[in-house]
Amino acid sequence: MKENYFDTVAKEWNTPQRQSTNEDIKEIILDGFEKSSLSDMKALEIGAGDGILALLLSKYFNKIDCVDSSEGMREECLRNKEKFSADNIFVYDEGFLENTTEKYGLIYSHKAFHHIVDVEGELKLLRKVVATGGKLYLIDFCTIPSEFHKDFPNFDGHDGFSKEEIHTYFENTGWKLTNYEIIRYGKKDDIEYEVFLAVGEPK
Ligand SMILES: C[S@@+](CC[C@H](N)C(=O)[O-])C[C@H]1O[C@@H](n2cnc3c(N)ncnc32)[C@H](O)[C@@H]1O
Repeated sequence: MKENYFDTVAKEWNTPQRQSTNEDIKEIILDGFEKSSLSDMKALEIGAGDGILALLLSKYFNKIDCVDSSEGMREECLRNKEKFSADNIFVYDEGFLENTTEKYGLIYSHKAFHHIVDVEGELKLLRKVVATGGKLYLIDFCTIPSEFHKDFPNFDGHDGFSKEEIHTYFENTGWKLTNYEIIRYGKKDDIEYEVFLAVGEPK
């Protein structure tokens, strides 16, 4: 069976830089809502990794269901949940979406979608679990050169996404793109990159 790269890096995933990025992303997500409106809201994170962003957001939400396809990441997420007594965080593998009957007021994802091969399939699944009036916050890389993932073994994902691609993906899967903005700039191994936030609402 193919080794899952994220299983191998899960224990070292939470660097100070990632912690700081997640703190910024938390603020960007919260900025879109009245904080008082969130305490009854259920949230879903796709590609939650070691759960740091969910931990930062958990005190504002009724609960957060975290989905990740890496067993190693899920274990780290559970460890962090225990460590910080975040009783309203729950952790699942990617099969969860096919079976849940839950509806979410917020679905969000940070730097995970470019690893999801079938983006439209995923967005269609998410469309089924969004609550009436709910929102999708999709945060990921704008188009990047393929060298960006040169050290990632057997990378089969996407070299980021253009605004047009996101618009088309949303159109094809029952989502209306209600906001799109560049929220961060960065540099990795001399490659400059941008990170977008795309907000979707059910059409
Ligand atoms: C680059 S990491 C980002 C982790 C975390 N969101 C963060 O910002 O630190 C991408 C994550 O997406 C997960 N992932 C990849 N494909 C997935 C899928 N189809 N469903 C759920 N999670 C997936 C990986 O296991 C990994 O934890």
